[in-house]
Amino acid sequence: MSVRMIGTGSAVPKLRVTNEDLSRIIDTSDEWIYSRTGIRARHIAVEETTAQLAADAAEAALSMAQLAAEDIDLMIGATATPDRLLPGLACEVQRILGATRAVAFDINAACSGFLFGLNIADAYLRSGVYQNALVIGAETLSRLTDWTDRGTCVLFGDGAGAAVVAVDGAEETRGILGMVQGSDGGRGMVLSCANRPLNNPYVNHGNEIPYVHMNGQEVYKFAVKTVPAAIMQAVEKARLSVDEIDLFLLHQANYRIIEAVAKRLGQPMEKFPTNMQEHGNISAASVPILLDEVKRSGRIKDGDKIVLAGFGAGLTWGAAVLEW
Ligand code: UT7
Repeated sequence: MSVRMIGTGSAVPKLRVTNEDLSRIIDTSDEWIYSRTGIRARHIAVEETTAQLAADAAEAALSMAQLAAEDIDLMIGATATPDRLLPGLACEVQRILGATRAVAFDINAACSGFLFGLNIADAYLRSGVYQNALVIGAETLSRLTDWTDRGTCVLFGDGAGAAVVAVDGAEETRGILGMVQGSDGGRGMVLSCANRPLNNPYVNHGNEIPYVHMNGQEVYKFAVKTVPAAIMQAVEKARLSVDEIDLFLLHQANYRIIEAVAKRLGQPMEKFPTNMQEHGNISAASVPILLDEVKRSGRIKDGDKIVLAGFGAGLTWGAAVLEW
């Protein structure tokens, strides 16, 4: 028995904002943003909601999987930016899609969210509790961004990606072959965003709106050290060597981080497709959107071995090895 990914989908908002556009509203430049991050543009939600983007991505994934919404029995929404705190994202998507048989819930593992969701789905499916799962990473990070802070607002974008994973009765050597996940709450405050202030009859912490705060250099150092190690562990669990991996699909925070990871793994950059040029960093949505774009471009063939890896706030990290 194996657990296989049988469909992917993605959706981004219509409004495309380039670095040039941003340089008209804050003190920045295409040169700075592109040379430090690899980002050229991002898509920003205007009318779109996190839930609608997630539902569009999920519908595309279901269509590729040739499944109906009613076939799904587990829906996991990975997000730090749901439209509402209650109900959660996955329940909203369940309503939009009419996935009436599913149990739906959210997780928040920031930029590792899709990987963590995939790991949870894999465990449920392997243990026989459910048969077909939809794992969604969806964000409208533009709502958490301080648009006067040039150190963060140029980095993020909005969008959603989804994947259908299903139990396959056939051989064990296909599908999800190995996964690792980790967290280090002790270093969590290097990338944080406070909740709304506590206000009740006993305490008044004011009404200041909290935004994302990041110590970029600390997160950078964490990523270039932890991600290659996590990938190596996942590849070992899959009983493969890194040279046998066809594609590495990493969280799209920064091109330089991906170059550093490739170098540490001794792998050529051709194996590391990127899309931060067009989307920026979309946290939990970044890995599944990249996966969907690469899949739809025809670059993933049956039997290809693929690494997915995410890292970010928490701190959290996760890596998975799949044979398509
Ligand atoms: O998804 C979660 C994971 N997140 C990440 O992986 C982020 C990891 N970190 C990074 O990618 C990088 O640290 C950044 C791209 C965020 C920043 O790059 P950096 O090389 O670490 O730049 P810095 O923050 O040290 O800033 C260097 C200079 C500063 O000016 P001074 O103090 O040297 O005069 C900043 O004020 O660049 C300035 N700066 C900018 N200038 C123009 C910061 N942001 C901008 C900007 N445009 N947007």
